[in-house]
Amino acid sequence: MNAAIRAVTRAAIYEGWRVFGIYRGWEGLIMGDIKEFTSSSVSNTIQRGGTILKTARSEEFRTPEGRAKAAENIKKFGLDALVVIGGNGSLTGAQLLAREHDICVIGLPGTIDNDLYGTDSTIGYDTALNTIMECVDKIRDTANSHDRIFFVEVMGRDAGFLTQNSAIASGAEAAIIPEDQTDIDQLATFIGRGIRKSKNSSIVLVSEKDGGAMHYAERVRQEYPEYNVKVSILGHLQRGGSPTAYDRILASRLGVASIEALKEGQRNIMVGIKNDQIVYVPISRAIKMDKPIDKELINVLNTLSI
Ligand code: F6P
Repeated sequence: MNAAIRAVTRAAIYEGWRVFGIYRGWEGLIMGDIKEFTSSSVSNTIQRGGTILKTARSEEFRTPEGRAKAAENIKKFGLDALVVIGGNGSLTGAQLLAREHDICVIGLPGTIDNDLYGTDSTIGYDTALNTIMECVDKIRDTANSHDRIFFVEVMGRDAGFLTQNSAIASGAEAAIIPEDQTDIDQLATFIGRGIRKSKNSSIVLVSEKDGGAMHYAERVRQEYPEYNVKVSILGHLQRGGSPTAYDRILASRLGVASIEALKEGQRNIMVGIKNDQIVYVPISRAIKMDKPIDKELINVLNTLSI
């Protein structure tokens, strides 16, 4: 997130434009918590996790009255355009503001869930993926030494990208994701293949949806009392820490591209990346269209976890 804020700020200043940072997202726009940024406002930030602008989930912005207050502040501060960095919720808000108050909005995909249509990757996803992989590597030491089955719960809201790809990266035995079959079938498939076969330990990564890891661990405990089952919920440590090089570069490219898009007169689009090329996607499509998980990834995990 900070790498994106830095890139937007510096690319705009490079063009001779003025830049204002809005604190705590929509909440700050409603409250007028807005400060002018200089190039040094974003110094020493590219390596930092979290967001220097802070963030908040705003209930008031969900109401037309809240959005009207936000629009008033946009006029008051003389802002010509908003660059909104966030996931589905932030971009849905951006679209409403654009439609209701004729505001020029450019979206940047910022979510660890990677669930925005029209971009191969979202800012933060690669960092979270690497964090999960490192955690599972550590959990594996206990799983192996104690002959245990671990159900590790991974974030992602309604999407299984983090779960599926971190399962491949960490050599897990299975991934249970919202997109593949029904959840119960996935566990049944895993059990049907023989929980352990030749192995003395197993790691199953589970998306946080529908009861998450606890739910599956309980079921295995009941059906296979002979197994030593443990649960690990990774939680918010997945959302913190210094970003990977990939994420820093992605955020820098998308941030610069958002200013290029404004120069070209683009409005109400999200800037994304496809096949390593910058693309523009209407915000309406980015938030509404489903982004499917490639079946090949499911096949890779199934093939390699024998
Ligand atoms: O959308 C990003 C995300 O980290 C999801 O993966 C997760 O379900 C959610 O946010 C957690 O939100 P909060 O920090 O508000 O509990």
